[in-house]
Amino acid sequence: MQQVAQLKPNPGPARANAVEVIGVSHVYHGREGAVPALTDIDMTVPAGRFTVIVGPSGCGKTSLLMMLAGLRTPTSGTILCDGRPIPSPDPQRVGVVFQEASLYPWLTAVENVEFPLALKGGPRGERRARAEAMLKLVGLDSFGGRYPHELSGGMKQRVSIARGLVQDPPVLLMDEPFAALDEQTRMTMGHELLRIWDETNKTVVFITHSLTEAVYLADEVLVMSARPGRILDRVAIDLPRPRTYQMMATDKFGQLRERIWQQIRAKE
Ligand SMILES: Nc1ncnc2c1ncn2[C@@H]1O[C@H](COP(=O)(O)OP(=O)(O)OP(=O)(O)O)[C@@H](O)[C@H]1O
Ligand SMILES: [Mg+2]
Repeated sequence: MQQVAQLKPNPGPARANAVEVIGVSHVYHGREGAVPALTDIDMTVPAGRFTVIVGPSGCGKTSLLMMLAGLRTPTSGTILCDGRPIPSPDPQRVGVVFQEASLYPWLTAVENVEFPLALKGGPRGERRARAEAMLKLVGLDSFGGRYPHELSGGMKQRVSIARGLVQDPPVLLMDEPFAALDEQTRMTMGHELLRIWDETNKTVVFITHSLTEAVYLADEVLVMSARPGRILDRVAIDLPRPRTYQMMATDKFGQLRERIWQQIRAKE
C-alpha cells in the first residue's frame, strides 16, 4: 500500500527491547512537600509489542509516560529507548499522543501533522507529502484542509495519531487517547489503532482506564497499584490476532478482564 511504503520496512520480531525501565522512582516536590508518585518500576517492552498500563487515578501512569517521552527525568533509576537514554523529547525516537488532541486551532489538519517536520526544515513538498500519507494512514485523506473545530473528536484524535507517527518513531506512547470519545467511536478508534499498529509495526505503550479496551488492544497489560505506583501484575493477553469485537463476548476475554479488575479492586 502506498502509505505504508513511506514507513520503514517491517524489521521482523527478533529485535531487542524497545523500552526498558529499570528501578525507576519519581518524587514530585510541590507546595505540599515531597509527593512520591512512582516506586521502583521495572518494565520492558519488546519491539513491536503493544503494552497497556492500567491503574487507579493518580497512581503515576502519566508521570511514567512523561519519563518515557523524555519530558520528565526520573528521581532515580534508568529509562532506555532502543538501548539509549532519552534525556529530552525526541519525536524521531518516541511519538506521543495525549488524551486531548492538543492540535493548533489556527492550522489545518495537514498543517498540524506537518508541524513537527516543519520545525526540522527540509523540502516543503516532501514534508507535505509525508503529512498527507499519514492522514491517509489514519483514514482522513480527504480532510487535510479542515481546521480542528471542523473535525469531530474522533477525527481530531486521528490527526493527533498521524502527527505522532509523522517522523516514523519506533515507539508510540499514548495517554488515554480515546477517553474523551463516546463508546462507539472509542471502539472504532481502538480497532483502527490495531490496524495502524499492524501496518507500521510500532512499539506501543498505551494508558487507559477502560479494562475492556486494555484487554482488546494489548499483548500485555501492566497493572499498577495506587500511589505511589508500583507494578502489581503483568497479564499476558493471549487472545488471537487480529482481534475482533466478537472476542469481547468470550469467556477468555471475561476472565482476563476479571483478573485485572480483581488486582485493581483489591488495593483500593
Ligand atoms: N507537577 C506535579 N507536581 C506535584 N505532584 C504531581 C505533579 N504531577 C503529578 N503529581 C502527582 O503525582 C501523582 C501521579 O500523577 P499522574 O498524573 O502521573 O497520575 P495518573 O495515574 O496519570 O492519574 P490519572 O489516571 O488520573 O490520569 C498524583 O498524585 C499527582 O497529584
Ligand atoms: Mg494520567
